[in-house]
Amino acid sequence: MQIHKNYNLSKLNTFGISVNAKFFVEIHNETDVKELFKMEEFSARGGSAFGEKKLFLGGGSNVLFTKDFDGLVILNKLKGIEILNEDLESVTIRCMGGEIWHDLVTFSVKRGLWGIENLALIPGTVGAAPMQNIGAYGAELQNVLQNVEAFDLTTGEKRIFKREECKLGYRDSIFKNELKDKYFITAVILTLSKLENKNITYKILEEYLKKNEIEIKGPKDISDAVAAIRKNKLPDPAIIPNAGSFFKNVFIGKEELRKLQKNFPQIPYFEEDGMVKVPAGWLIEHCGPRDGTSWRGYRLGNVGVHEKQALVLVNYGGATGEEISLFADKIISDVKEKFGLKLVPEVNLI
Ligand code: EPU
Repeated sequence: MQIHKNYNLSKLNTFGISVNAKFFVEIHNETDVKELFKMEEFSARGGSAFGEKKLFLGGGSNVLFTKDFDGLVILNKLKGIEILNEDLESVTIRCMGGEIWHDLVTFSVKRGLWGIENLALIPGTVGAAPMQNIGAYGAELQNVLQNVEAFDLTTGEKRIFKREECKLGYRDSIFKNELKDKYFITAVILTLSKLENKNITYKILEEYLKKNEIEIKGPKDISDAVAAIRKNKLPDPAIIPNAGSFFKNVFIGKEELRKLQKNFPQIPYFEEDGMVKVPAGWLIEHCGPRDGTSWRGYRLGNVGVHEKQALVLVNYGGATGEEISLFADKIISDVKEKFGLKLVPEVNLI
């Protein structure tokens, strides 16, 4: 296990931001985790000899670095997917945190297993998936998650979190809140179904399947459809650096919706768990940097709002994290001014 100093992170974040980590290490197996923990300095005060701060990176697809990282960056490279057990109806899979999420989707749909096909092509690693309870096209990780295995960085002990203990919510979990930076997620355990269990009510997915006359014979038909929709709508970070949705959608009460509808009768909304979800993409599209314009497709210097999905901010090349963050602030204040709603970034600003 090698500790690097002043390590450039530009290839390790999908926004392509060039910042340095004071210290950097790759974790390839559980012994590395223990070794790292044991380093006397590392465990001192639960902090680190490499600076007070630690940051765990997976695919780097949900972070925006606004400055150099004055601490230790730990890259999760733990690999392996194994079937733990199976019965007539389901299969339980243990997947190591450093696996690419989409590879796990491919592994599952190839075996005809249902449960994560709607989550095809979500960028990032398996270890990062529970952090924000990844979700797309009507499915969420919490529908299939059983346990999360993690190392407690203050005691060095391994802990298994049951799904309920992870406090999963909309793009949220205990690992983003109370336990932020306290655990290193090493593996995720999922239970997938052998029995057909298709989930195709998400409007955009339903329309795509209908339009292309796709008959669902197995989970792969759904993951292929989702992949096609995503490829058409979301920019490929390898070509235009970005971190997917920059903001979260906004949840409001029914009363607040009624008030908004008076001024904006066309506002789209979706009722979920007794709340109303207003798509942030629509809000961003329907206000703009100048009167009568839209943020969608707008570019300022090296930063812009993607033309096909207003939730996504893109780096046209050479943008700094600070530039992107200031650009995002402008959008937040515009949306606040026009709709009175507060956008919250989904991306972690570091
Ligand atoms: N919309 C617009 N303009 C836009 C974008 C969206 O008006 O530019 C409105 C439309 O009304 C559309 C609705 O928003 O019907 C929903 O759009 P979409 O299906 O694209 O989903 P989203 O709510 O904008 C969320 C996730 C995405 C995920 C999609 C598909 C969040 C923050 N984002 O976006 O996740 O792929 O649903 O399920 O919840 C990500 O997290 O990085 C991500 C891409």
